[in-house]
Amino acid sequence: MWAEIDLSSIAHNIRTIAAIAPRSEVMGVVKGYAYGHGNPACALAMLEAGATRLGVARVSEALHLRDAGVTAPIHVFSEAPVQAASSMVASDLIPAVYTEDFARALSEAAKAASKRVPVHMKLDTGMHRVGLLADDLEDALRTLKTLDGIEIEGAWSHLAVADIPDHPFTRKQLDLFEEMSARIAAAGVNLRYRHIANSAATLTMPETHLDIVRCGVAAYGLWPGPQTVGVADLRPALALKGRVTMVKRVAAGEAVSYGLNYHLNRPGHVVTIGCGYADGYDRRLSGNADVLVGGERHRVSGTVCMDQFMVDVGDRSVEVGDVVTLIGSDGTDRIPAEELAEIIGTINYEVTARIPSRVPRVYKDGA
Ligand SMILES: Cc1ncc(COP(=O)(O)O)c(C=O)c1O
Repeated sequence: MWAEIDLSSIAHNIRTIAAIAPRSEVMGVVKGYAYGHGNPACALAMLEAGATRLGVARVSEALHLRDAGVTAPIHVFSEAPVQAASSMVASDLIPAVYTEDFARALSEAAKAASKRVPVHMKLDTGMHRVGLLADDLEDALRTLKTLDGIEIEGAWSHLAVADIPDHPFTRKQLDLFEEMSARIAAAGVNLRYRHIANSAATLTMPETHLDIVRCGVAAYGLWPGPQTVGVADLRPALALKGRVTMVKRVAAGEAVSYGLNYHLNRPGHVVTIGCGYADGYDRRLSGNADVLVGGERHRVSGTVCMDQFMVDVGDRSVEVGDVVTLIGSDGTDRIPAEELAEIIGTINYEVTARIPSRVPRVYKDGA
């Protein structure tokens, strides 16, 4: 089995985002192995299509991109352990900063390397994940300003409910962000970059665009939430495909897979597909999800195993080696990641991000 990634769709989505936020730089968010789509290929495709910077969660993700030759600015969204400060400085990463310990470690590392590190202060405007609380802002600024080697280049925050249109909490977060930005300016810091928009805000709230929009899910052609479906011209970039590895005629009255949960009430062709929950195909899809075989929907029959699952295709003629589409299009039908997410009670982000490295990524440029 494999995941097919259409890089021309990613490029199209980045151009769509850039057109929606014409006065902002676009940051391609490529953490989580580009939401399962794969790095460095997706990061490079985004940069080539007009993204000017990248965002990741961990230092290791940024170093992987640097090793692949990416020279664009790379933001690391959470503070790393202080031990990682020198490698962040050596690789010219842009750290998020919100604690004194980490800021001091960065300053020491910057001085040792004779560099000035641009940092972006992460402000907690209400999501309470990481960031500086409003009450601590002036103290933090006083400390940061005494630290050599650090330059406060930006301030940013993250929205908790931007995927729900007109949610009053988003307004509250924006107002607090403006207020905290003004206090930073009043402390004599000139902020070159302010950013708060994720995909949902970028697509639906122009007032959030500011200097940079940080887009992940939309860049992959996925919707940030059910209430944003169709708000822009996005193309899903990922298809998940497997091959039929065995076809057998099973008699009426027989049952299929662990637990014997699927029963045939007539004879049928039961095909085996080489994909299982160790490939990110969630076990809760057992008996619940459809796959496309020859462009037609068939239901997963019984329990999804670790590496395989079965489908009763009835009298359909199927051969070993035939392609089965688990996510994506075949003919006129399509199984979106959102459909699987709904079945298992999660979000599309998780469906693609959980496709592990043992599933090869096959990149197409769509040409
Ligand atoms: C700090 C930060 N910014 C931006 C994003 C991108 O969010 P989205 O994929 O909804 O665009 C994320 C992802 O969760 C994030 O953690």
